[in-house]
Amino acid sequence: MTKSILVTGGAGFIGTHTVVQLLNQGFKVTIIDNLDNSVEEAVHRVRDLVGPQLSLNLQFHLGDIRNKEDLEKLFSQSKFDAVIHFAGLKAVGESMAHPFRYFDNNLIGSITLYQVMAKYNCKKLVFSSSATVYGQPKIIPCVEDFELKAMNPYGRTKLFLEEIARDIHTADQEWKIILLRYFNPVGAHESGKLGEDPIGIPNNLMPYIQQVAVGRLPELNVYGHDYPTKDGTAVRDYIHVMDLADGHVTALQKLFTKEDIGCFACNLGTGRGTSVLEMVNAFEKASGKKIPIKFCPRRPGDATEVYASTEKAAHELNWKAKYGIDEMCRDQWNWARQNPWGYKKPPTK
Ligand code: NAD
Ligand code: UFG
Repeated sequence: MTKSILVTGGAGFIGTHTVVQLLNQGFKVTIIDNLDNSVEEAVHRVRDLVGPQLSLNLQFHLGDIRNKEDLEKLFSQSKFDAVIHFAGLKAVGESMAHPFRYFDNNLIGSITLYQVMAKYNCKKLVFSSSATVYGQPKIIPCVEDFELKAMNPYGRTKLFLEEIARDIHTADQEWKIILLRYFNPVGAHESGKLGEDPIGIPNNLMPYIQQVAVGRLPELNVYGHDYPTKDGTAVRDYIHVMDLADGHVTALQKLFTKEDIGCFACNLGTGRGTSVLEMVNAFEKASGKKIPIKFCPRRPGDATEVYASTEKAAHELNWKAKYGIDEMCRDQWNWARQNPWGYKKPPTK
């Protein structure tokens, strides 16, 4: 029997890549997205990529997970076997300036979704958590049973939503929940048709480098070069978005095949740390473009070095990242080169 999956936030960066893989694996997919941080063109690209036949298995609904009526309409019309829940706001700085926006969207939105899922007896969930729940880790690699800490309102929503998921499972053991803690998702679909398209000036390293490479920004600010690391710049665990997408498909399949899932958290990372300067070098190599840099003071709140322990993902999900930073930069550049303005048209002069 074909399984039917509701994907919240499926028009976004990680969502679109995951939907492609779900359709390729034979799932039926319904997206609900309010297009707060995405465009419908991304969903059209997903259709183009999977072709007309598999596109018949994809539905897109413009809607907001905070709106019970939007959700009720979907759940009363279709039976969903599981939900992958990506929808949420994710900009750390914005969350510090506008915490209510984050509490409303991420917390209220998720709770509303879970209430409707329970009402319609849909109790299988894969949730987008984040390495942000490790705060500033004292020990690396980050292991799932470390003590958790929120560093900002965005991180607090992820931390609370993990706790909320545990409470829901404790109250009703029919729920099966996998909390996936992503490290730093980068790269793009190998076709160059899908990728990350942030609104305004990017906050994150790779979209920023990409915009320097295509001439939209003059230089990269490197935040901190006095960290106690190999070259003085901060170290992260970058993970190819297609590896992440496959991690979701694997987690979903576990929900259908394993009985005693309960509610558990699992890292999705490569287990390898890469410094900012190493990432810049790898991107220059992949693109043939020079990325001018300017050394700047550390960014407040940034950790020195973060990377994942990958043992639990290997053991519980039988999943391991395939790609390294060279492939991440190759595919990021392929997307950038074909879509220097993302999904948008270039501005008219
Ligand atoms: P994204 O912004 O590209 O995608 C999120 C999608 O959710 C967008 O399409 C947005 O329009 C939609 N959305 C937001 N609020 C909504 C609402 N109330 N109702 C319906 N749709 C709504 O972000 P992404 O990078 O694809 O991230 C997906 C998830 O993964 C988020 O929950 C994010 O917090 C989490 N995450 C992302 C990263 C990262 O660095 N990209 C790291 C860790 C965790
Ligand atoms: N950096 C720069 N210049 C920039 C942007 C970033 O030097 O213009 C540096 C940062 O200081 C940091 C590294 O590049 O050392 C990575 O920064 P990102 O902003 O790309 O990623 P973060 O690790 O800070 O955080 C991201 C998301 C968080 C999420 C975390 C773990 O923004 O929401 O990954 O998943 F929690």
